[in-house]
Amino acid sequence: MEALVCRNLGDPTVPPEGADGSALWLSRDHPIPQLKSRTSVRVRVKATSLNFANYLQVQGKYQEKPPLPFIPGSDYSGTVEAVGEAVTKFKIGDPVCSFAALGSFAQFIVADESELFLVPKGCDLVAVGAFPVAYGTSHVALVHRAQLRAGQVLMVLGAAGGVGVSAVQIGKIRGATVIGVARGSEKVQFLKSLGVDHVVDLSKEEMSESVKGFLKARKLKGVDVLYDPVGGKLTKESLKLLKWGAQILIIGFASGEVPLVPANIALVKNWTVHGLYWGSYRIHGPRVLEDSLNELLSWLADGLLTVKISHTFGLRHANLAFAALKNREAIGKVLIVFDEASPKL
Ligand SMILES: NC(=O)c1ccc[n+]([C@@H]2O[C@H](COP(=O)([O-])OP(=O)(O)OC[C@H]3O[C@@H](n4cnc5c(N)ncnc54)[C@H](OP(=O)(O)O)[C@@H]3O)[C@@H](O)[C@H]2O)c1
Repeated sequence: MEALVCRNLGDPTVPPEGADGSALWLSRDHPIPQLKSRTSVRVRVKATSLNFANYLQVQGKYQEKPPLPFIPGSDYSGTVEAVGEAVTKFKIGDPVCSFAALGSFAQFIVADESELFLVPKGCDLVAVGAFPVAYGTSHVALVHRAQLRAGQVLMVLGAAGGVGVSAVQIGKIRGATVIGVARGSEKVQFLKSLGVDHVVDLSKEEMSESVKGFLKARKLKGVDVLYDPVGGKLTKESLKLLKWGAQILIIGFASGEVPLVPANIALVKNWTVHGLYWGSYRIHGPRVLEDSLNELLSWLADGLLTVKISHTFGLRHANLAFAALKNREAIGKVLIVFDEASPKL
């Protein structure tokens, strides 16, 4: 099978054509993974998405550092291609999605049946390849942890990025007043099309002035929930907009800078700071994760959500997919899609 292999830590935007020293290499005859147990399922991958974590991991900058060589990639969709003899939930041909710690940038992946989700009828199987990580993270953060309610003010940093768009959509579904922060008119137009109540365009305006003007016009006291996948000075500025009793969701550090939340101010203002590492729920809260993804898939099937796909590439152009993330070009998710010509077993 074809698989994208990380042989050295380095820049994933270099073409994966095997140049000496390049981080990624496109292997065209990689061994197809075998079923590992009686409840294993092999999935023919249809689509897999890029997450910022994949970009960091190939550079050796992510919290999880697998030994070399490894196949990167986390969330994916596809069809069941083989099942172990004790599998009861799935049959060959079923459309499924899931996420793995590693390994989805390949034509086949093996998972235990307990890790797979059936994709409901009517959902676009390609778009679902970009669903589990981004939407799962925002759902656990906003619904399970912050318990966001109708009428509350949600502020989303990096609002046009992968997790940002999902947070905005879930915020609207929960009936919150949503403020989105992004850079550039294309991102702003897209966020307005989602019904975001106020969008800050960082290329044109100063965030806190813009948000304060909006809050004043709406007679709102401040932000109830801050969703923060960016970090750095944007977090520092955002803290000044939070209400008494606000909640801060620490999602990530796309800016490259880990922010400080002063404990003395958190005390005085009764803030709650949630650190959220979604992937770890598979070990520490599997029921939460399962219920969350099932609710999200039902929202997708009912048309309450659509997955915004920004860019689509084949595996051999994965470097361009990584470049779209690196250059902040993505609006929503970046996908790698496999064609139908993958090997027949
Ligand atoms: N905690 C978890 O379990 C979890 C799960 C998923 C993702 N994450 C984290 O969340 C963060 C965002 O992930 P994502 O997949 O949404 O990434 P993404 O699609 O690339 O979006 C990141 C957004 O951050 C903004 N940004 C600000 N400074 C940036 C910089 N220096 N470089 C790149 N982007 C910058 C960009 O918005 P503008 O250009 O509009 O400013 C961009 O749209 C990452 O740190 C990722 O690791 C965490």
